[in-house]
Amino acid sequence: MKILLGVTGGIASYKAIDLTSKLVQKGHEVKVIMTKSAEKFVTTLPFQALSRNEVHTDIFDETDPSVIKHIDLADWADLILVAPITANTVAKMTYGIADNMLSATLLASTKPIFIAPAMNSNMLANPAVENNINILRNRGIHIIEPGAGFLACGYIAKGRMSEPLEIIEYIEAYKKGEQIQSHQQKQDLKGKKVMITAGPTIENIDPVRYLTNRSSGKMGYALANAAASRGADVTLISNPLPLERHPAINWVSIESAQDMFEAVQSHMNDMDIIIKAAAVADYTPETVYDQKLKKKEGDLTITFKRTVDILSYIGTHKTNQYVIGFAAETENVEENAIGKLKRKNADVIVSNNVGDTSIGFKSNENAVTMHFKDGDKIEIKKQPKEAIANQILSNVNKKGFK
Ligand code: PMT
Repeated sequence: MKILLGVTGGIASYKAIDLTSKLVQKGHEVKVIMTKSAEKFVTTLPFQALSRNEVHTDIFDETDPSVIKHIDLADWADLILVAPITANTVAKMTYGIADNMLSATLLASTKPIFIAPAMNSNMLANPAVENNINILRNRGIHIIEPGAGFLACGYIAKGRMSEPLEIIEYIEAYKKGEQIQSHQQKQDLKGKKVMITAGPTIENIDPVRYLTNRSSGKMGYALANAAASRGADVTLISNPLPLERHPAINWVSIESAQDMFEAVQSHMNDMDIIIKAAAVADYTPETVYDQKLKKKEGDLTITFKRTVDILSYIGTHKTNQYVIGFAAETENVEENAIGKLKRKNADVIVSNNVGDTSIGFKSNENAVTMHFKDGDKIEIKKQPKEAIANQILSNVNKKGFK
């Protein structure tokens, strides 16, 4: 692929040198644009040496009269990757500012654009930056999420640029994923009604305390967004979560397992596909106190009662719905998943090993195995939850969901 790599002024720009080297080693042709701020961190020379191409830094440096450089570069590339991208360049992209070689090229491009943000965690969480990233995501810019870890500012938090190999894996998955794109273009779930439950439930103890779990909702929201992009009429049932929702999604806000059960009951008859990605509490306090429980001498005992197993309820009462459950396991993953498939009368169980902290709960990536009722098994290797979601939907379609 012809990759135009944009490098902006962050400490992670040193990683862009390694990224250039690895891209070239994988057979990609790379041209580099650096901002003036990037040049404060690293020089053009390693990029030129590794890419074997001139590095562009100045929009007015027009040495070849036969072309206009930023237009020519935008046209040349199969895709543009900006890694690292600062909050400043994110804002420029959002508002269409073209005041340097990179921002002008981005504005002139009609090609897929990937950005790998890297910044201090407070900057990343600032509503202005979050909002800008969401606007870009909604415009179809591919966001390669930063990871958590040691930041140059001394924080240990989210904001580190993804590692070069992860970035390359992401781009190459996209290249292979032309299938995913064409699904979106073909709108292969158009006319289908899909219900998805996502995230944790909240079981109140008193007005102050509650019982919940580690689910962030990312897996379920990725499924809901992917299904909506593929044309489905999506009903998403979840707690309010700080995650982006496709604008066409019909969101039903719930809190407890009982709320989720009632919402599922009232919507399930209309559905073609039901996906239960939520981490539902198996137990809820027998008594919910109206007033805050006061601290007393000695221990406190709270009795919990069982919640309804919503997936089993769906399995028992379904008519034509295709039912996909999840299994969050820490041991005997396959055996337990197949047990749930049978006991809960699902059509598919998607198992994930939540004992591995790099996947499963809260992380941006997952690795799953789909166990089908007919005994088939499909493994989906570790990748961003958005890609996993699309593959789950594609496999369900492929397996002849009617
Ligand atoms: O939300 P993330 O941070 O992105 O993490 C994703 C995830 C790990 C939560 C997700 O991939 C996942 O595995 N979801 C299912 C979690 C779970 O509760 O698994 P389980 O093995 O305990 O339950 C099996 C199935 O029964 C699930 O489909 C669950 O939704 C359903 N269930 C469980 C209990 C209950 N009372 N009612 C149910 O419907």
